[in-house]
Amino acid sequence: MLEDVKRLLKLAGQQRRKLIASCILSVIGTALGLVPFILIYLMVLELFNPVINQVYVWKLVFWCIVAIILKFAFMGLSGSLSHLAAYSILYDLRIKLGQKLGTLPLGYFKEKNTGDTKTAMNEHVEQIELFIAHNLPDLTAAIVVPIFTAVFLFIVDWRMALATLAVIPVALIAQGLMFKDYKPLMKGYYDALEKVNSTVIEYTQGMAVIKAFNQTVESFRRYRDSIEEYDDYIWMWTKRFIPSWSVFAVVVVANLIVILPVGAWLYISGSLPMPTLILFLILGIGFSQPLMKLTMFSSQFTQNMEGVGRINEILTETPLSEPEVEQIPSNFNIEFQGVHFSYGKREVLDDIEFSVPEKTVTALVGPSGAGKTTIARLIPRFWDVNAGEISIGDVNIRDLATERLMSLVASVFQEVTLFNDTIYENIRMGNAEATEGDVIAAAKMAHCHEFIEKLPAGYQTLIGEGGAKLSGGEKQRISIARAILKDAPIIILDEATAFVDPENEELIQDAITRLAEGKTLIIIAHRLSTITSSNQIIVMDEGKIVEKGTHEELLLAENLYSRMWKAHVSAQDWKFETEEDRK
Ligand SMILES: Nc1ncnc2c1ncn2[C@@H]1O[C@H](COP(=O)(O)OP(=O)(O)OP(=O)(O)O)[C@@H](O)[C@H]1O
Ligand SMILES: [Mg+2]
Repeated sequence: MLEDVKRLLKLAGQQRRKLIASCILSVIGTALGLVPFILIYLMVLELFNPVINQVYVWKLVFWCIVAIILKFAFMGLSGSLSHLAAYSILYDLRIKLGQKLGTLPLGYFKEKNTGDTKTAMNEHVEQIELFIAHNLPDLTAAIVVPIFTAVFLFIVDWRMALATLAVIPVALIAQGLMFKDYKPLMKGYYDALEKVNSTVIEYTQGMAVIKAFNQTVESFRRYRDSIEEYDDYIWMWTKRFIPSWSVFAVVVVANLIVILPVGAWLYISGSLPMPTLILFLILGIGFSQPLMKLTMFSSQFTQNMEGVGRINEILTETPLSEPEVEQIPSNFNIEFQGVHFSYGKREVLDDIEFSVPEKTVTALVGPSGAGKTTIARLIPRFWDVNAGEISIGDVNIRDLATERLMSLVASVFQEVTLFNDTIYENIRMGNAEATEGDVIAAAKMAHCHEFIEKLPAGYQTLIGEGGAKLSGGEKQRISIARAILKDAPIIILDEATAFVDPENEELIQDAITRLAEGKTLIIIAHRLSTITSSNQIIVMDEGKIVEKGTHEELLLAENLYSRMWKAHVSAQDWKFETEEDRK
């Protein structure tokens, strides 16, 4: 618990002072809230006197009003401060999380659920606001008020005070039962919630496929399962919670049951004056309210700490290591030396060794699952290799500052990512300093210019939600334009020509040729006809390099490549035949 509070205070950072001030103000405010009760008590005492001092009574009324006004002033001030602090913390946290995500290796985003990260950045951060702005000042009040009240009650009449407090042990026991195993239960709750979050994202993003395959909310199993699991969990928890909660909720407001008979008995036996009895009846009932708040607080607190823990997990995730002394590559040759790599336990690259001289084209080919994409992703350090070394210009890529490495490499992956922004901004993302002329020149080279010009708002057309819908080939060409604009010396293309119609393929092929002029290019292609002129073809199978050479050399070797080539050619023939047939 103390650890948790420390962590929270650490997240609170510079806002700590505001928070402490807010709590102090809240304590003073709530203590002022008690003053009217004391004054009323004094007043009742006075009213029972045979001779009433009117000036004294009016004075009491006056101070009563002053106390109430002051209470609201203090509480208001406390609330403003805590809100100010909470929103600053919220802001800082979101910025911090954003920055942190920027330093993580790209592989993190392949492994982690987007749902988890979203929950942390939205819900958990939001909860911290609630907690800090409302619960924390409330808590201080909820602790301080009962203590003050109890002390005051004991001073007035210890027997009646004991009667007022009599239900508390029972309430505490019920509360203890309620919060038994609360932390692991809370964790389970968040696990279930995160699962719902990520399947919701998956479900909505995959809607096209879900519809095409006639699936529905009920039949899309992962979605349904996660919701049912969540539902079951809440049920299980509720059932566990209900008995102890009911006992607590009843007992905590039931002290009248004790106050009334004890009070009546003492009054009748003549040892309790009427004003005192009235005072206890007034204060006794209100006494347990803060206890209720305290319970709410405990549950909020545990919830919140779970959230803080998850946020901390992201904040303490190991970032991509930066070199202590940055080295600068002398050229752009790429070298893989004895590279081993595994996802988890499964090794997918086994002793990969090849070099790509700068300004040449190297093609990676091989059956599905051979490890081609993995090789492409290791160069911009999505993950670090397990053994061996990847170097650019004789410098291990780990000794390059991340920013430099990223500036050296432009990647066009098969899954093109375009943002909900204008086409212009999507291309300009390749190079923030590019002028409008540069953007248009890059678009022209990537064969985008023609179709962009035809759009109603041209380069200012919005893409994505509520904007223009582009074809797969068009998106790919925009991503190539972005890479052209980046003008990086090393280019990695992962299957940029797959699944594209012949006309588009020709345009894309031409765009790639221009993109690659004078650059070091690594290209992964399933259509072998597009890479026959490469300087070097590397053939992979099951995580190993099985052959290397030019197209001609590999054909002569009559190995995997030549078999793949024959299959490719006959597939082409087959395609021509069917087209002929149709005519
Ligand atoms: N993020 C990942 N986590 C775990 N395993 C992965 C991950 N990505 C790929 N793999 C596994 O690693 C192996 C190599 O995958 P990779 O994507 O590199 O193959 P590929 O040669 O690009 O295949 P394709 O031609 O189908 O694109 C595969 O067996 C795949 O299942
Ligand atoms: Mg691949």
